Amino acid sequence: MPTTLQGRKVVVLGGTSGIGLAVAKAVLADGATVVVGSHNRAKIDAAVAELGMSATGGVLNVNDESSIMAFFEQVGPLDHLVYTAGDWKRRNNNIGNNFDLTDAQAGFGIRFWGALLAVKHAMPMIAPDGSITLTGGVLAHRPQKGAALSTAIAGAAEHLMRGLAVDLAPLRVNLVAPGLIATEVWSRLPEGAMQTMVDGQPLPRPGLPEEVAEAYLYFMRAGYTTGQVAIVDGGRLFM
Ligand SMILES: NC(=O)c1ccc[n+]([C@@H]2O[C@H](COP(=O)([O-])OP(=O)(O)OC[C@H]3O[C@@H](n4cnc5c(N)ncnc54)[C@H](OP(=O)(O)O)[C@@H]3O)[C@@H](O)[C@H]2O)c1
Repeated sequence: MPTTLQGRKVVVLGGTSGIGLAVAKAVLADGATVVVGSHNRAKIDAAVAELGMSATGGVLNVNDESSIMAFFEQVGPLDHLVYTAGDWKRRNNNIGNNFDLTDAQAGFGIRFWGALLAVKHAMPMIAPDGSITLTGGVLAHRPQKGAALSTAIAGAAEHLMRGLAVDLAPLRVNLVAPGLIATEVWSRLPEGAMQTMVDGQPLPRPGLPEEVAEAYLYFMRAGYTTGQVAIVDGGRLFM
């Protein structure tokens, strides 16, 4: 079993920003080629330009199965699938009077159903010694007030991963559960707001995308690891 990604082909859905872009950079540094997929052509072009010669990209909407299917038909055979796609639309996370079912269901669209459909269409193309790495969140392990929906979505992704690890074996399936990671989306917050959220963690700072990327790399390279969760949270579970 190879312990580097030299010569392997890695597809990162959501690879045009944040954690996904950091994963794309890390796999290139380890000798792989990478295909990044996302919804927005301009972001794909910018990411591919930043990543360099061993990177290509393609448009897909993970909310649309025909778009996912067309993407993988174009990509062809691959070794590793990484799924980091997610949107940041404001959703009512509180299951109170203002709870809106349609809105809540949309929350599962990208992070859960999109992941499942990506697996469905990538699966026949993935090398038998390859892997799938999904993304959840530390909320699945440490719920916080006002975030019931996000907790459920992260937990659903995690249990999907466990079921797939059994169903798709010997293909390996794992999941990374990030804590608070300083990706572009958080830069919209007022200054100091992010720091307040991480005060009290054993490592009292936001994580860096490249620090989370290490966990995805581990799962791609670790040939005897399947059905596992890597929590990358600066110790948030213990605050
Ligand atoms: N950052 C954190 O603190 C944190 C914490 C816990 C969990 N997570 C999880 O980690 C994942 C990545 O987070 P991030 O902060 O890196 O987010 P991000 O920077 O917003 O990246 C999300 C990626 O998903 C793509 N995307 C969005 N909608 C899409 C669609 N309909 N079809 C295809 N691609 C789509 C985006 O590209 P386009 O805009 O071009 O479509 C982008 O490449 C998310 O699932 C998030 O829930 C993040």
